[in-house]
Amino acid sequence: MDIAAIKINAGRLQEDLLALARFGEEPEGGMMRKALSAADLKARKWFKRRMTEAGLQVREDEAANIIGRLKPKKESGSGPCIATGSHIDAVPHGGRFDGAVGICAALEALRSIREGGFSLPIPLELIVFTDEEGSHYAGTFGSRAMLSLLTDGEIYKSKESGQPTLAQDLARMGKDPEKIGQAVRSPSEFLAFLELHIEQGPVLDKMGIPIGIVEGIVGIHRCLIHVEGKPGHAGTVPMKERDDALVKAAQIVLAVNQAIVSAGQDTVGTIGEFRVYPGAFNIIPGRVEMSLDLRSMEEKVLMGIKGEIDGVIASVDGARVQPVGMKSGVFMDPRIKEEIEASCRKRGVRFHRLESGAGHDAMSFPVMGIPTGMIFIPCQEGKSHCPEEAIRFEEAAIGTQILADTLLRLSQKGSELRQGTNSSASR
Ligand code: GLV
Ligand code: MN
Ligand code: MN
Repeated sequence: MDIAAIKINAGRLQEDLLALARFGEEPEGGMMRKALSAADLKARKWFKRRMTEAGLQVREDEAANIIGRLKPKKESGSGPCIATGSHIDAVPHGGRFDGAVGICAALEALRSIREGGFSLPIPLELIVFTDEEGSHYAGTFGSRAMLSLLTDGEIYKSKESGQPTLAQDLARMGKDPEKIGQAVRSPSEFLAFLELHIEQGPVLDKMGIPIGIVEGIVGIHRCLIHVEGKPGHAGTVPMKERDDALVKAAQIVLAVNQAIVSAGQDTVGTIGEFRVYPGAFNIIPGRVEMSLDLRSMEEKVLMGIKGEIDGVIASVDGARVQPVGMKSGVFMDPRIKEEIEASCRKRGVRFHRLESGAGHDAMSFPVMGIPTGMIFIPCQEGKSHCPEEAIRFEEAAIGTQILADTLLRLSQKGSELRQGTNSSASR
């Protein structure tokens, strides 16, 4: 059967996207769907039902990843697969399409392939990864749990004092955190991984091009910075005798920002969380906790700036760094990029090659030598991780068609994809 005969249903895709956006929607237009929160659990339940209705064989692993398999008609379907997927969870007060577009597109692609009666040579999988955004700790949790990339004991850690850990939230769902290792799969189970996502930046929208072919994903270093001072009475301790944790933290924020700006190139860094304890009008801050997210396409640049920042923090009395996670930048597989490009040419769709400054579950697969690719669609004015995040549904439909076509092209390549794998983990 010709791949061109498989047509995705744009209306059904839009309905799914809008239905999913209702879970966790906020009156002001944003989205509150932190991983394993009540809204996330409801959305997951709804999406699992949609997957079953689409004819997928659905299961959940010990890391709460949702996995749906579309088997070839004639075989047992237990062999290696080509996987696609993304995430349901959202950043606090985030947008409706980050992650959501990838899983709804994957669902529509697999559904159309099944309905079109395409004779698949190998199984396809749709995976909804748990806690991509790192609301508990380090981010891309589900894909790292699946590929044995978790760091020691990280599911028992929380990035915010007093907040539930992943182990606690998984246990609340009836999972046994001690059995997290059962979520691990051998890389040989995957012939390739392909994720569709909104760009989260302005490039495609400015160019008016509907498809981005991702060349590589940025490296990300994350840490928590703790600053200790001495709490005391705001009215009675003279200024000269104070050890105010917030004043010291403010010096760190400015010095870190200056170091990153001076690094130039493509380095970016963000202190996005800042908590003051105990937190009252009339108490001198005794402790501050803040998060740092540092990104660069170049590993050497990232390590250099990380070293400089560690030095800044070490020079402040009572301040210390707690590393949370380091993900190397990765290249996408040239053969997958070519297949995405061929899919675009065949449908007469314009495309542009670009880098991803955002992190994705697609980062975990190249680390294990699995050929990986990403398709971007534009988001309006490049806005993301904010309530204003928006897409054009026609472009989501184009992306979904290119996703379906590319999955089929890759399925025809089959085990050839694992030969001479040239995705590389490190940039
Ligand atoms: C995920 O959205 C990230 O880039 O942090
Ligand atoms: Mn995100
Ligand atoms: Mn995302």
